[in-house]
Amino acid sequence: MKTNLYRQKLLILDFGSQYTQLIARRVREANVYCEIHPCNMGIKKIKAFGAKGIVLSGGPASIYDKDAPMADKGIFNLGVPILGICYGMQFITHALGGIVEKAAEREYGNTKIRVNADEAIFKGLEGNKRYTVWMSHGDRIDRMPNGFVALASSKNCPVAAMVDSSKRFFGVQFHPEVAHTPDGTKILRNFLFRICGCEPTWTMSSFIERTIRSMRETIGNERVICGLSGGVDSSVTAVLLHRAIKDRLSCILVDNGLLRKGEALEVMEVFRNHYGMDLHLVDAAEHFLKRLKGVTDPEEKRKIIGREFISVFESKAKVLGKAKYLAQGTLYPDVIESVSFKGPSATIKSHHNVGGLPEVMKLELIEPLRELFKDEVREVGRQLGLPQELVMRQPFPGPGLAVRILGEVTPDRLEILRNSDVIVLDEITKAGFYEKVWQSFAVLLPVRTVGVMGDERTYDNVIAVRVVDSLDAMTADWSKLPYDVLGRISNRIINTVKGVNRVVYDISSKPPSTIEWE
Ligand code: XMP
Repeated sequence: MKTNLYRQKLLILDFGSQYTQLIARRVREANVYCEIHPCNMGIKKIKAFGAKGIVLSGGPASIYDKDAPMADKGIFNLGVPILGICYGMQFITHALGGIVEKAAEREYGNTKIRVNADEAIFKGLEGNKRYTVWMSHGDRIDRMPNGFVALASSKNCPVAAMVDSSKRFFGVQFHPEVAHTPDGTKILRNFLFRICGCEPTWTMSSFIERTIRSMRETIGNERVICGLSGGVDSSVTAVLLHRAIKDRLSCILVDNGLLRKGEALEVMEVFRNHYGMDLHLVDAAEHFLKRLKGVTDPEEKRKIIGREFISVFESKAKVLGKAKYLAQGTLYPDVIESVSFKGPSATIKSHHNVGGLPEVMKLELIEPLRELFKDEVREVGRQLGLPQELVMRQPFPGPGLAVRILGEVTPDRLEILRNSDVIVLDEITKAGFYEKVWQSFAVLLPVRTVGVMGDERTYDNVIAVRVVDSLDAMTADWSKLPYDVLGRISNRIINTVKGVNRVVYDISSKPPSTIEWE
């Protein structure tokens, strides 16, 4: 489905910075639509995109590297404002005839800058005052291109910001998009509204309205099927579609026996009873467990589950009648074609939930959330009336608890994990951390350890508790939970879950570990 009905948009050219998505999120939060494209996007495409302004992101390279990423210099002739951030500023300097020099030392972290000019981009900031900004750069500007003047300086960086006001080209050496630059949002908003003249028209209610309209046009009188998992993305996809085409949408929930306690019933309750959707629960638990019998290899588990999911889904869909489309909850971060300096990233784990389905079933895809970030999806969910627990639900892997049971997946081991998992979630929620952390769950280890309960020696299972903080799951850190919360989780699990006599807390970050254990 080709979307993009937004005229007020901003283009972000990506030079590979880890913060590029943050720029986009800040712009969207200001209610301006934007897209991220690789820095080498062709000038014809850039013109066709029709942006009101362009942001050049930061990046890890040095402008003098042999393969330093470059954008088409034609962007400087489009007559639209340009803001270069960090490497983006160095690119502007280099491309327009200035000089970038290698600084003796990297400047990294919180830095003070002094704003020394009255310019629209710094509106709301006072001249001659010092502001905290986040810097992360090796190179710096030695000589600005003709026509530019310096707007700010720091101790190590005489040109911390610059402008050519006649052309409306700006450069900042620091990162206004990160939270460590407290006035960064103000600066970005100045660029959007005062300089590019954008209007704040990108709102989730306008998104809902337009998306429903365009889905109706695309789908016509055809039927759509949608796999529901109970996660935020598939739930919001289903509700949006249901609004658009009502009973021409059929949803399938495959209970693979690897869901969390009570999850399948909860999803049925919301979607069938509350929304009145045509929802079909396929109880395939036994079937999946049979296929997983004796399997201990993580990749093999994932492959089996992916394959079985396709076959179960396909046979149910056949019974439901002919559909032309399959709806999927793909989000914008999955779509962004970012610049990778490390070559194609290796497949670390097979992430297949519904992968392969459209080809097997010869279905066309409908992906209404393709333009959205997760927080925007949540807002859409809220506006569509989904319950808060569902809207804020933590991510859950497609292969479910199978990748949290190390070793063989058996009904007994599933029972131990489910009962432990409920306790982790309950204590995390009660302590107010459920929505603050990225994920919190229990993992059942394939080892047994010695313990003592009463007068008896025990030889039982170990549960690992995994709680992480993350922005996008690409990197994550273990959550520094208060000891008493960890203590309550451990006591409750050991005292009430039969078969567990030890609880450990996972204190590894990603990388080098991953969030899930398999
Ligand atoms: P890892 O373990 O690779 O996980 O650090 C990153 C994020 O992805 C989730 N995850 C999955 N999600 N299907 C999914 O839909 C999968 O097969 C899968 N494996 C991992 C994981 O929970 C974390 O949020």
